Amino acid sequence: MSTSIKQPQVITCKAAVAWGAGQPLVVEEVEVNPPQPEEIRIKVVCTSLCRSDITAWETQAIFPRIFGHEASGIVESVGPGVTEFNEGDHVLTVFIGECKTCRQCKSDKSNTCEVLGLERRGVMHSDQQTRFSIKGKPVYHYCAVSSFSEYTVVHSGCAVKVSSIAPLEKICLLSCGLSAGLGAAWNVADISKGSTVVIFGLGTVGLSVAQGAKVRGASRIIGVDTNPEKCEKAKAFGVTEFLNPNDNNEPVQQVIKRITDGGADYSFECIGDTGMITTALQSCCDGWGLAVTLGVPKLKPEVAAHYGLFLSGRTLKGSLFGGWKPKTDLPSLVNRYLKKEFMVDEFITHNLLFEDINQAFNLMKEGKCLRSVIHMPK
Ligand SMILES: NC(=O)c1ccc[n+]([C@@H]2O[C@H](COP(=O)([O-])OP(=O)(O)OC[C@H]3O[C@@H](n4cnc5c(N)ncnc54)[C@H](O)[C@@H]3O)[C@@H](O)[C@H]2O)c1
Ligand SMILES: [Zn+2]
Ligand SMILES: [Zn+2]
Repeated sequence: MSTSIKQPQVITCKAAVAWGAGQPLVVEEVEVNPPQPEEIRIKVVCTSLCRSDITAWETQAIFPRIFGHEASGIVESVGPGVTEFNEGDHVLTVFIGECKTCRQCKSDKSNTCEVLGLERRGVMHSDQQTRFSIKGKPVYHYCAVSSFSEYTVVHSGCAVKVSSIAPLEKICLLSCGLSAGLGAAWNVADISKGSTVVIFGLGTVGLSVAQGAKVRGASRIIGVDTNPEKCEKAKAFGVTEFLNPNDNNEPVQQVIKRITDGGADYSFECIGDTGMITTALQSCCDGWGLAVTLGVPKLKPEVAAHYGLFLSGRTLKGSLFGGWKPKTDLPSLVNRYLKKEFMVDEFITHNLLFEDINQAFNLMKEGKCLRSVIHMPK
């Protein structure tokens, strides 16, 4: 008697499809292909909305497209050659993968995999094709994750197996923004005890930098945001002083220089505005001031800064995903959350049903949320 191996088939399921820039998503039926070699298909359990989804949806030209990149799920099937995952494994998706063999992956100085790096064309890394379609026509991916779908296919290097006791409806936040902020504070800046930190933009990314700075024993954590509602919210995450640039007649970098006796030790840009990168550089001190930029700009990607800022000793550093190597570092970060070493649940301001996904976009655009977690149908 021959034993037959179950071959994954095409799945028809619901996905939130974006048909044009800034147009509300439409929840409709899509076909999801079986995973190809080295890929896995995931049943998405929860996905939270990150600002980067909104920026790409508003400004990029690849449509129809399924956005979403901050997600947790359960492996539904595995493609040929996959040995690391089994059906039923709990996973987080990641927007930059880790192949473990390229020059960048082998270096302990980088998390920017050359093979599974940030995917910008809306296709899979391996064959430049999509795994989604509607009536035979391709529907494009986002960051090779596309979690605004009941099922999605990702490269096995772009998913991380995590403890099955960790709550998937919470740890989805660690799949992008929260880890990016914590890592910027710990890995990229390596904030030292007693230092002064200034953070531009108090969303989930900026407030994660704040809690990272607090854990490191920073003595002053100055939060800057144009939304006055962030003042009260930010305290819970470690922000000790709040500045609204609109409340002052003088430029915010001057206020910061004045109240910090010449500038902060570290500054962080967590907005996505290249003009604010310059402001962040101007807000840190001569000699050793370090500006870390995390934001993904909506408009012009060029940064302008007077070279004197560098001659006098400042450094500007960028980072994706807080410098964490996803496969190497994310499982232990999840375990540290389980030991309550840092907050995650407190960033979840809204829980929404999948069919209400456009509400998550509205809440973020209106500045009314930190993270909205979208719960996929059971
Ligand atoms: N580098 C990475 O790995 C990474 C990961 C996740 C997100 N991001 C990027 O980080 C940025 C923040 O993401 P988020 O999800 O926290 O976004 P968010 O929208 O929740 O937070 C941004 C905050 O910036 C404030 N803001 C906007 N303009 C401002 C201004 N001119 N001055 C002061 N404050 C201002 C807003 O009021 C808001 O509180 C985005 O650009 C996002 O794309 C980067
Ligand atoms: Zn993100
Ligand atoms: Zn690599």
